[in-house]
This record gives sequence, C-alpha cells and structure tokens, in this order.
Amino acid sequence: MRQALIAVTEELRRLKGAGVGSVAVSDEALGAVRRALRSAAAAPASAGPETAPPAEPPPPAVRAVAPVPAPVQVPRVAVPALPEAPAVKLPEGDKRARWEALLALVTGDPVCRANVRPGKKVVLGVGTLDARIMFVGEAPGGEEEIQGEPFVGPAGQLLTKMIQAMGLARADVYIGNIMNWRPQMPAVEGRDQVGNRPPTEEEMRYCLPFLRAQIDVVNPQLLVALGSTAAQGLLGFRSFKALGDVRGRWHDFGGKPLMVTYHPSYILREPTNRKKRLIWEDLLKVMERGELPVSERQRGYFLDK
Ligand code: URA
Repeated sequence: MRQALIAVTEELRRLKGAGVGSVAVSDEALGAVRRALRSAAAAPASAGPETAPPAEPPPPAVRAVAPVPAPVQVPRVAVPALPEAPAVKLPEGDKRARWEALLALVTGDPVCRANVRPGKKVVLGVGTLDARIMFVGEAPGGEEEIQGEPFVGPAGQLLTKMIQAMGLARADVYIGNIMNWRPQMPAVEGRDQVGNRPPTEEEMRYCLPFLRAQIDVVNPQLLVALGSTAAQGLLGFRSFKALGDVRGRWHDFGGKPLMVTYHPSYILREPTNRKKRLIWEDLLKVMERGELPVSERQRGYFLDK
C-alpha cells in the first residue's frame, strides 16, 4: 500500500511539473486513500514487506474536482547511474548526411540501447531538416518506443492537430525530445511498462547533447519547448519553479528564440477551451514571430468558454 501511495504522489508531482493545477478525484477514491492511511497508521511498524520511505503528502496545488479512473499503480524505480554525457561530433556534409550520422550514433549508443527494453526502440527526432520551427517534448512514451518516432501516441496526435491549426503540416516542422529513450519503470506483473515518469536530471543530461546536435543540424528559426521537462532541458535544470513562470514568453537558447508552452498532455487530461486557448496564445506568438499568416479566424480559436 505504501508503494501505491508513493506512486500516486509521484504521478501528482509529474502532473504538477507538466503544468497541471488540478486533477479529478472521486469521493470513492478519496475514501479509499483515507481508509488506507488509517490502516497503515494502525499497523505495527514491522508489518508488510515494503521498505520504501513514507509517502509525502500530495502537492498542495492539486485540488480534487471531479471523478476520474483510479491512477495506475507503479512501483518505484531505481535509475542506474549513467556515464558522462557523450561528446557528439558529426562529420562535415549536408544536413541529411549529418542527420543520418547522428541517427546512427544515437541508435547505436550503448547507454541508449541499454535503457530500452528488448524489442523497443531508441527514438530520435522526426520532420523536415529545413524546418523553421522545431518542437521539443519530454521523452518517448509507450507508442513512441514501439514505432521509434516521437509524438505518435495520443499527445502526438494532439500536437499534430495543433501544428495543423497553425496552418502547417507535421512534415513542415521538426519534432524532437529531450530524451531518446522512454524513462523506464519496472514492468507490472510481467506486462510491459505501464505509465510514464519524467526523466531524472542525470538522464536528461545524458541525452541533451543529442538534442543540441539536432538543433545544430536542422538550424530552425524558432524553438518551442512543450512542458516543464523540455523547458528545464533547454533553460537549465531547476531554472524556474513553476512552468507558469516561464511559459508564454520568449527565451533564448543558443541565440535562438525559444517559446515555452504547455505539453499537449496538459490538454488531454482536461480538454477545456480555456486550456486550449492558453497553448494557442503561445502558438499565435510563434506564428507571428515565424511570420506565418494568421487569419482572424485563427486569432479567435478557443475563445468560447
Ligand atoms: N510526449 C513527449 O514529450 N514526447 C513524445 O515523443 C511523446 C509524448
């Protein structure tokens, strides 16, 4: 039970980090947590096989609003120590040749390979190498590590719609991630990994040279960080407290304008026009700075409550 509470707490932290200010919790679920806490408090200290430290209370900014399915129970994972971040040196040549060399480097990298389960893939970015806009997300999820392509699962489908709303096609931009592998958690009862966790600082540090190399090769005009992990990777670890402190504004990454916005999964969890509008206003800024045409209709998207 203690591990279940830790897993719930970690998921709440992850959601908070991704910019989620509230989650829906049914009265039934709250009752179950209260009962569990009461019985844990009543149990003798030696009872139960679990040795994990006590669960911390959920972050205060997360409020109960409405019923949702119970969170998936995921055991805590110990992330193995990683070696120094790799020095990425690409050969001279055109963009395609350099990108292919990078792809070979990343997919052959022993640390990346060691961090994906058998049959799953190391994931590099996707899109046109002439992109003027490059989106940066967090890490591959379940679908991405199967297909070996970023943003192909539910969040990716929403990102594709967001790109289309900007008057572009997915093939007109480049989409990368901070991480090249799906941050692992133990398989649950012999099944594949259930759920995702944000990467550790060490994992991000290891993969960042590969992202920098992609930015170098593609040389986009503008960067868009999707969510807290991407923003931390590009702006610096712990360089801000809450995503709201940096989102919706222009920053600098190696001389390139960087817009920080929410991750699409922020909308998937609560698809209200209010939230869609928040991301959309950030994307309007990207369109303006990227000198993309903006129609009156586009300006008005998601204004209805
Ligand atoms: N979320 C991400 O941040 N990246 C992906 O590739 C998929 C989901």
